Amino acid sequence: MVKVITYGTFDLLHYGHIRLLERAKALGDYLIVGVTSDDFDRSRGKINVQQSLMERMEAVRATGLADKIIVEEYEGQKIDDIKQYGVDIFAIGSDWKGKFDYLNEFCQVIYLPRTQGISSSQIRQKERQISLGIVGSSAFVNKLSAECRYVNGIRISGLYSEMDIGPEVDRSCFEFVTDDYDRLLDASDAVYMHEYPAAHYRLIARALQKGKHVICSSPVALTRREYEELTKMAQDNHCVLMDGIKTAYSTAYQRLILLLKSGHIGRVVSVDATCTSLVDVSRIKDYGKEWGSITDWGPTALLPVFQIAGTEYRSFAITTHRLADTSFDTFTKIDFTYDSLTATIKVGNGIKSEGEMVVAGTLGYIYVPAPWWKTDYFEIRYENQTNNRRYFYQLDGEGIRYELVCFAKAISSGSAAPYSCIDGKVSGQICQVMEAYYQNQNMKFI
Ligand code: CTP
Repeated sequence: MVKVITYGTFDLLHYGHIRLLERAKALGDYLIVGVTSDDFDRSRGKINVQQSLMERMEAVRATGLADKIIVEEYEGQKIDDIKQYGVDIFAIGSDWKGKFDYLNEFCQVIYLPRTQGISSSQIRQKERQISLGIVGSSAFVNKLSAECRYVNGIRISGLYSEMDIGPEVDRSCFEFVTDDYDRLLDASDAVYMHEYPAAHYRLIARALQKGKHVICSSPVALTRREYEELTKMAQDNHCVLMDGIKTAYSTAYQRLILLLKSGHIGRVVSVDATCTSLVDVSRIKDYGKEWGSITDWGPTALLPVFQIAGTEYRSFAITTHRLADTSFDTFTKIDFTYDSLTATIKVGNGIKSEGEMVVAGTLGYIYVPAPWWKTDYFEIRYENQTNNRRYFYQLDGEGIRYELVCFAKAISSGSAAPYSCIDGKVSGQICQVMEAYYQNQNMKFI
C-alpha cells in the first residue's frame, strides 16, 4: 500500500484545496492529511486564520478524500509523522517548491502545481474590507500602518491629528493626511485612535456617532463616567469599541495569565509591574497634550494587576512626581491593597528603571524580564530551582498585528466581547485610575 501525506491550514476550504487533496490521493492508496493547529499557525506568522482547528479538520473530513487526519503542532513534526506512519510520498503545492527537499531523505517529495486564482487569504480579504483611519501624530502611526499589512481585510485610509504631524511620520503610508476629522471618518469604516488622551473622549464619541468602529490606545477615556458613556454609545450605534493594549494580545502574556489561574504558583500574593521610557521632557511644547507616565504606561502596567488581582481593590495610594506647574508626571507609583494581596505599578516617562514584572505566590513566582510588556519569554521559579520552568512564545509586531486581527474579527462578527483580550471591567477600572490620578486622590507628591 502506497501512503501519501500532505499538510495545510485548509482555512475556508476552497477548490484549490480540494484539487490538491484529489491529486495527492491519486498518488497512492492511503492519504494522511496534517491540519495545522492554531498555535502552530500563529507561531509561523499565519495570524489571519478564520476557522478553528476543529472546523478546518471537519471541512477536510467532509471532502471524503482523507483516510486519516492528524494535527500538525510543531516544527519538524513532518519527519516524525513520515517515520511513524511509514509514509512513501510527501505531496504539497508548488508554492512550497524546494522548501521540503530535505524530506527526500525519508520519502519521495512531490510538488503539485498550485491552482491559480484562489487562496484562503484572497477569500478572507474579499469577505471583509475594512477601511481604517488613523488618528495620531507620533512614529507609532508608522508602526501601525506597517502592521496592517499583515492583517487580511484591513486597508489604511487616511491620517488625522490635532497635533503637529512631525517629520518622523511617514506620510506616504496614507492615502491622505488631513486636518479635517470628518473627512477621515467619512472615508473610514473604523479608526485607530492614538491621539493625546485628553482628546480621546471627544474624538471617539464623534466617530461612534457616525457609526464608525473604534480601537483606542488605552486609556479610552480619563474618567469612568466618560468610559461608560462611550461604551453605551458604541452599543446604541452597533459599533465595536475596543481598548488597545498590545501586551494583552501577546501569546506569552496570555499563557502567563492562564498558568497563574491554574495555580502554578499557588495563591497570588503580589503583582509588581514596572514600565519606563526615557523622553526628552524639555522638548515638550504643550504638557496638556502629552502622554505622561500615567497615561502612557499606566494602562499597560495596570493590565496584569487588574487581570490577575481583579478590579475590586480595597484601597490605593499614589506617589507621583510632576514637572513644575504642569500635569505631566515623569514618575508615578501606585500601591493597591486587596483583601489578600497587594499590587504595585511603577511607571515613568523621563526616568529609567528595570521594566520587569514579578508575580509572587505561595508556591513560587513568575518572573518576566524587561521589557515585560513586549514579552515572548517568562519563567516560573520555585524554591527548589530544579523545578523552574521557562516559557517562550513567538511575538511578532509587538502584539499590534494580533490586536488588529481581533479588531477585524470583532467588526465582522459585530461584537468585541469574543475577540477583545481586555474585559470591559478592566478598561473601565483603568479609566477610573486615570480619574483618581487627575483628581489627586490619595496622592503624595515627591
Ligand atoms: N493549494 C493549492 N492551490 C491553491 C491554494 C492552496 O494547491 N490555490 C495547496 C497548497 O499549496 C497546500 C494546500 O493547498 O499544499 C494547503 O494550503 P493552505 O496554505 O492551507 O491554503 P492557501 O489558500 O494557500 O492559504 P493562505 O492564503 O492562507 O496561505
